[in-house]
Amino acid sequence: MTPVEQPRPSQSWPWWPLLPLYPYGQRRTLVRTLIPDQIWSFEQLQGIFYVAVPIRMTVLRLREGLLLYAPLPPTEEVLAELRALERRFGAVRTIVLPTSSGLEHKLPVPAMARAFPGAEVWVSPQQWSFPISLPLAWLGFPRCRTRVLLADGLPHQEDLSWHPLGPIDLGAGTFMEMACLHRASGTLLVTDALVAIPPAPPQLFEADPTPLLFHGRDRGDQPLIDTPEQRRRGWWRMVLFASYLRPESVDVPGLKEVFSQALQPGLRQPRSYFGLYPFRWSQGWEREFKALLGPRGEARLQVAPVLERLVFPRCREALLHWLEGLGELKQLRWLVPAHYDAPMACSAGDLQDLALAIRQRPWAVSEGSWAYLAGIDETLVRWGVVPSEPRDERDSENDPKLRA
Ligand SMILES: [Fe+2]
Repeated sequence: MTPVEQPRPSQSWPWWPLLPLYPYGQRRTLVRTLIPDQIWSFEQLQGIFYVAVPIRMTVLRLREGLLLYAPLPPTEEVLAELRALERRFGAVRTIVLPTSSGLEHKLPVPAMARAFPGAEVWVSPQQWSFPISLPLAWLGFPRCRTRVLLADGLPHQEDLSWHPLGPIDLGAGTFMEMACLHRASGTLLVTDALVAIPPAPPQLFEADPTPLLFHGRDRGDQPLIDTPEQRRRGWWRMVLFASYLRPESVDVPGLKEVFSQALQPGLRQPRSYFGLYPFRWSQGWEREFKALLGPRGEARLQVAPVLERLVFPRCREALLHWLEGLGELKQLRWLVPAHYDAPMACSAGDLQDLALAIRQRPWAVSEGSWAYLAGIDETLVRWGVVPSEPRDERDSENDPKLRA
């Protein structure tokens, strides 16, 4: 691994601040070399109201130039780093949107495509938008150079193999993602389906640890104090929010309590949301986070809890079919998801073990940490928004939706 470059501030992408997404106009990018001269990770923070987790674009060097997998918003900083790679390794030839449903990965694609007018844009099948499904060209994708993976072929097969997960009918839309194995390095790129959550805050927060310090407190009238312990506590709590939306260990206090702690001296500023802190963590909350780690407190490969309970609760077989297929990739050495830790050391046997563990444990339960996600799922089923028996559409090769 080569030394990691420090993040630098960048100007915001013009319309991104219109969305209520942290870090608003201060988007920074951390660029890391994952495999020297072959694979690079571009990371930014993204979230809502200080619940921010890393989101990653992976850059592959192929025989025919560079490929961008799951693009980030093309800030000036991102573009400068990509131009530097182009000068060393050739032009950006391919931009891949590997998911049909991950809005955070879809939104940046049109702007990135405009930044690289010579690149082909390949998108996962089953693209959709909400509340109205619009053609990709209406969403800003370049009509003449956008192709649909599988339906229009697969790019760079001399260097890559492609592994679809889904499609899975979610009612309002479809979940699908396209994993991609870079054979030369044995690196598998995935989007949202698999993650490895690190026990320590990612390096990305070193430029501005404010979200960690905000969540590391217990009350709104406590100041934001920067210590390694506060950062760790804040990271663990943010991961719990991102994983379960409303963790079991957190309560929302009444408005009277929230406002009584607000506007204390030193907290009358936007950085601390003026002392508004609508969370009350119960004793022993750390156990809920530790359950997301491996037995020695290390990052562990897993299906993201949100996906297990809201995307795959009744489609475990589709997920296992995909995992077991990946478990036959003997050259697999590394996994690079679009969120959290990367690269994660990963062999074919590790994926087979994960599939077996999923087969043998209760799936998409509704108790404890999972109760809030289960409530959302049950409500959506009751309202008819998602089907009670979602259709695994893997066999519907003639389905016109596969052509996006
Ligand atoms: Fe994502």
